[in-house]
Order: sequence, then C-alpha cells, then structure tokens
Amino acid sequence: MDQTYIRDVSEHVGEEITIKGWLYNQRSSGKLIFPQIRDGSGIIQGVVFKKNVPERVWTDFEGLTQESSIIVRGRVRADERAPGGYELDVSDVEVLQTAEAYPITPKEHGVEFLMDHRHLWLRSRRQHAILTVRAEVIRAVRDYFDSNGFLLMDTPIFTPAACEGTTTLFSVDYFEDTTAYLAQSGQLYNEATAAAFGKVYCFGPTFRAEKSKTRRHLTEFWMVEPEVAYADLDDIMELAEDFITFIVHRVLENRRKELDEMERDISRLEKIEPPFPRLQYDDAVRMLQEGHEKGELESQFEWGGDFGSPDETYLSNRFDRPVMVHRYPAAVKAFYMKPDPERAELALCVDVLAPEGYGEVIGGGQRADDLAYLLKQIHEHGLPEDAFDWYLDLRKYGTFPHGGFGMGIERCMAWLCGIEHIRETIPFPRMLYRLKP
Ligand code: 4AD
Ligand code: MG
Repeated sequence: MDQTYIRDVSEHVGEEITIKGWLYNQRSSGKLIFPQIRDGSGIIQGVVFKKNVPERVWTDFEGLTQESSIIVRGRVRADERAPGGYELDVSDVEVLQTAEAYPITPKEHGVEFLMDHRHLWLRSRRQHAILTVRAEVIRAVRDYFDSNGFLLMDTPIFTPAACEGTTTLFSVDYFEDTTAYLAQSGQLYNEATAAAFGKVYCFGPTFRAEKSKTRRHLTEFWMVEPEVAYADLDDIMELAEDFITFIVHRVLENRRKELDEMERDISRLEKIEPPFPRLQYDDAVRMLQEGHEKGELESQFEWGGDFGSPDETYLSNRFDRPVMVHRYPAAVKAFYMKPDPERAELALCVDVLAPEGYGEVIGGGQRADDLAYLLKQIHEHGLPEDAFDWYLDLRKYGTFPHGGFGMGIERCMAWLCGIEHIRETIPFPRMLYRLKP
C-alpha cells in the first residue's frame, strides 16, 4: 500500500509521499492554504501553493471541511519552525468525503458535550496524547511482570460472590435461577493460581457499582493484580515501589512528547525514585489531626475511619513521591486481610497514595492464611460461605503466607498525565450516569 505514516516522515525528507487521513484544521492566506492533516499517528502541516498545483487541487482544498477524509500527496520538507519539525508541500489530493459540519470545533466545549461525543472527541490532540500514554503504561505493566518471573493468569469476570464488599456488586442473570456478579477483582482466583505457579498476575476489566459521582471512580476500570506466594507485607510494598518506578521511567523515556502536549509538569515525575516513604496508619492519623489543628484540614479525623479524598490529598501533599500507608484498622478493610500478629485490630495492608493529590492508586497487602479466622471473617462480613468453599480449600491444602496488590490503570494514568478527572483516561468511560457512547 502506498502510504507513509506521519510519525515516520523524518525518514522521508525530500521524498514525495502519500498520507491517508483526515483534515484536522485549515487556514488560508490568499495564495496559500495550510491544511493540518492527521492520520492517527500524528499531525503534519501541509502547504498548498496556488501557483504550484492544478486548479482542481486548489478548489478541492478550498471546499474541505474539518474531518473530511482525504488522501494527500506531497513532498516532505524539514522546517524548524513547523510544529513537529516537518511540513508537506502538497501536490495532489483525493477527497473521499467532505464531512458534514463537525460538532467539535476548535472553540471551547462543555465536558458533558464532549463526553456525549466521545467517539469523535478521541480525534483531538489532547485525547490522542492521553490514550497514547495509556497504551504505553499498559505495555510497561505487562513488560514488568513478564520479565520478572510472573505468569499471566486470566481470572473470570462472571463470579459467584463479592471480593471487595457487597455494596458495589453488579448482578447478572446467569441461566435459570442463578445470579452471577461481575468481578470486582481477580484476587481470590489469583490466590489459587499463586499456589499453583508461585508468582502470577491478572490484568483485565473490573466492575464496581459505585453510586457516587466522584473524579476517581468508574464503574468499569482496568486493574492489574500481582499475587506472590511466600510474600509478606514488606515484600509487597517493595514490589509496589519497584513496579511504579518502572512505569514512571518508561513513560518518561518513551512518551515525553505526549506529556508535553498535555502540559504535564514533568519535573514532578522525575522525582519518582525509590525508596517511597512508608507511613503507618497511626502516624497518618496523627498527621491529619495536626493538619486540622493548624487549620489546614477542615474536618477532624478520628482513629478508626477510612480516609476520605481530602485526607488522602493532605497526606500525599506532604511527600514528593508516592506514600505507602500501611496497617489500617482491619474493620475498614476487606475480609481477606491478614491481621497484624502484634496488634490484631490492624490489617497487614497497604494503600499507595500518589503525589499531588491523585489519591489511592494501589491497594493490597498480605492475605489471611488461617482457615478459622477466614471463616469467621466471611460470616462477619455477611458473605455466603458456600460460594467461598473453593477459596477456603486454599487454607486446607498447604496454606502459605502470600500477598499482592491491585493497581487501577485509570488512577495511575490520572496521576501520570495530571488529569483532573479519571473519565479522560480510558477511551469510553463507564460511570454512574454514562453508558453511552
Ligand atoms: O483497593 P482495591 O479495592 O483492592 C482490590 O480490589 C484488591 N482485591 C486488589 C488486590 O490486592 N489484588 O482496588 C485496587 C485499586 C485501587 O487502588 C484503585 O487504583 C483501583 O483499583 N480502583 C478503581 N479505579 C477506578 N474506579 C474505581 N471504582 C476503582 N476502585 C478501585
Ligand atoms: Mg482500596
């Protein structure tokens, strides 16, 4: 196929090439038209010089509307002043379609309008940059685990019971009288695969019926979850720290252009190096209480509660790298957490809070490995014991210390890209009031 991608034009300076794409924008000044052409891999500015092209080519360009589909021929010229460093001296154009009046114009639009037109909004520069970084993050995630001795285990999406609390379950009719629930996490299955394979990870969509409208919650999000046999809480914290550092390095290495496009303050990301601070929940509470006394935090925090988003923001702002808060009260955490042998009211768990107020990006910890304790927890959390018989088997047949964590790709993305609302970090976000497009 005679086609050159815009990302590769630097290899074709002086050559006549064909670009297949769409008209992004265009301006003209008398004898010159400057079409901006995009093809999915990039955007290049063309120069149409009335004197140098057949009249048909000139009038075709004059009639073009935003997002018209076009095949353009031209010669690549290096030009320091051009955005991207190259321009295309246009010689010919084939118009596949003159697009109807495009709803998204270069002027400002409200975010609800843009979300309603998400299928088109994806074509804009900023969205293109964000989703290019997302693909890089996902590739980094896979590379990290694949090259560190973890085996990929795909866990099911139809599940018989809750993993992360019964209030955020989506139920689905599953033949006859059975109800299935969309997976909130692959963790419980990963505990089984960890006993079979040692170090594993799963990576897929997860579902939470979050009824709240927040900047950080989706109802469908992508989570990567490693699980490690014979790992304790400290091992899990080290793994989280190493993993996050790897991802940040990779994005800085390969996606600087995109971060610049989003006007991300890269210097904040360049500070992300191990070790990350470890902060015990007790000390975090003390910090929050001091913040309140100094008038920096509105509400008073009581020991025993879970952090709200202002609390997380306050804590993360004390540090220039992710902070790992560990040993929360067991009462505010999931049923499967191992209690701290030194203080049974605490769970051996960790939440990693991203800097700059982006909140929790990772949750995890060490798992309860004692059969009697887990049974008690399942009852206390009102979970159906018969749905967990297979899980309890793992505590009967060679129970073992183990742990892991889950990282939400969209939360991580919001932080890396400096995006206010998580909805822009996934191509088609699912939220309380959004199922379309
Ligand atoms: O803290 P969570 O609920 O932990 C678990 O699901 C564990 N089973 C993971 C494990 O140990 N294997 O969720 C983990 C992460 C959060 O830190 C956050 O990044 C993301 O998943 N997350 C969400 N992201 C977007 N929208 C939501 N509604 C999310 N809920 C959790
Ligand atoms: Mg959590």
